[in-house]
Amino acid sequence: MSVVGIGADGWDGLPEASRRTLRAAEVLIGGPRQLDLLPAADCPGARVAWPTPLLPAVPGLLGAHEGRRVAVLASGDPMFYGIGRTLAGILGPDRLRVLPHPSSVSYACARLGWPLEATETVSLVARPLDALTARLHDGRRLLLLGEGADSPARVAALLRERGWGGTRIRVLEQLGSPREALLDGTAADWPHASADPLHVLALDCVRDPETLRLGVTPGLPDEAYEHDGQLTKRYVRAATLAALAPAPGELLWDIGGGSGSIGIEWLRAHRDCRAVAVERSAERAARIARNAAALGVPGLRVVTAAAPAGLAELPAPDAIFIGGGLTAPGLLDACWDALPEGGRLVANTVTLESEALLAERYRRHGGELIRLAVAAAVPVGGFTGWRQAMPVTQWSVTKG
Ligand SMILES: C[S@@+](CC[C@H](N)C(=O)[O-])C[C@H]1O[C@@H](n2cnc3c(N)ncnc32)[C@H](O)[C@@H]1O
Repeated sequence: MSVVGIGADGWDGLPEASRRTLRAAEVLIGGPRQLDLLPAADCPGARVAWPTPLLPAVPGLLGAHEGRRVAVLASGDPMFYGIGRTLAGILGPDRLRVLPHPSSVSYACARLGWPLEATETVSLVARPLDALTARLHDGRRLLLLGEGADSPARVAALLRERGWGGTRIRVLEQLGSPREALLDGTAADWPHASADPLHVLALDCVRDPETLRLGVTPGLPDEAYEHDGQLTKRYVRAATLAALAPAPGELLWDIGGGSGSIGIEWLRAHRDCRAVAVERSAERAARIARNAAALGVPGLRVVTAAAPAGLAELPAPDAIFIGGGLTAPGLLDACWDALPEGGRLVANTVTLESEALLAERYRRHGGELIRLAVAAAVPVGGFTGWRQAMPVTQWSVTKG
């Protein structure tokens, strides 16, 4: 099976190898818009339009044409947020011949004079817009794959709401076609309610002066969170994330989520990280979801339950953090049993009762038992003295 990338310039923009493949195909599969780009005289193969929704129909469609020369049309580069990924997953890469075309982001970088390798891309297609927030840094250039005619207006509204109103937005429409067009403005006064649905957005990020500056490492300022006091404070949080050591694709259980900070900073560590926060208070669970959206990780799953209730239904974790509920009967055992060999467990506490439990586990399973004591300088009369926060005992261990 061949997968042929095609651009908005249609047949005229195809290299000879792609044309040869399409001429020779017995079956041509693609979106109606893409199929219409092929001249009937050159491409006599039977034409099959993708149904919507596409994904569930793919295996049946491929099976129906087994043994014939099939060419699937994809927009731009088939392996960049495209159908190539789905087909490679179903057929295996060895049964695919992919003929790429420049992607929309290659075109956008060409028009903007931006180096592709230094330009981060965020897809808004079938993804929550809030995820964009985690990618915003002063002076950063971003390309967004838009979804629908209103996505520039929605992006502008989000940027205003999150304190990035000065950000320049350029909407590059119909890239590569004779109908290319550009909309240009700032988020603060974006005038266009809609755009051509085929577009890429280019952002030059500018933070409003009063917007809190957030870096990329764990240990965000406590003010970044809405909280009721149940928050792992900045320095202990940074040390906790260091012990948890997130890696791309890994899943964290954040038990006793509180304000959600541990799960949130786990997710901010890499876009492929996954996390579930388990919190018994419904009010706090709602707050965790708000914090996750505001800090750009709307994918944080929040489960309202008093652990160990609810844990059995969760997918197996790579790491577990226990920030609350240590003394709940069966909680530590349930966590330990759920952890695969090589998985990490980190538990923090400020109470003697929970500390005794952690000391006993430390004797049994090893790992590291540490005490974190942070003091901050505060005014004392006309002078300055240390205010000591409650020391936090932390047990961290790798299973097996
Ligand atoms: C100290 S806070 C955790 C702070 C959190 N790591 C953060 O930074 O926001 C402890 C939280 O655990 C929750 N909790 C206590 N026992 C629990 C249990 N058995 N299951 C789920 N949540 C629990 C409490 O409601 C509280 O919100």
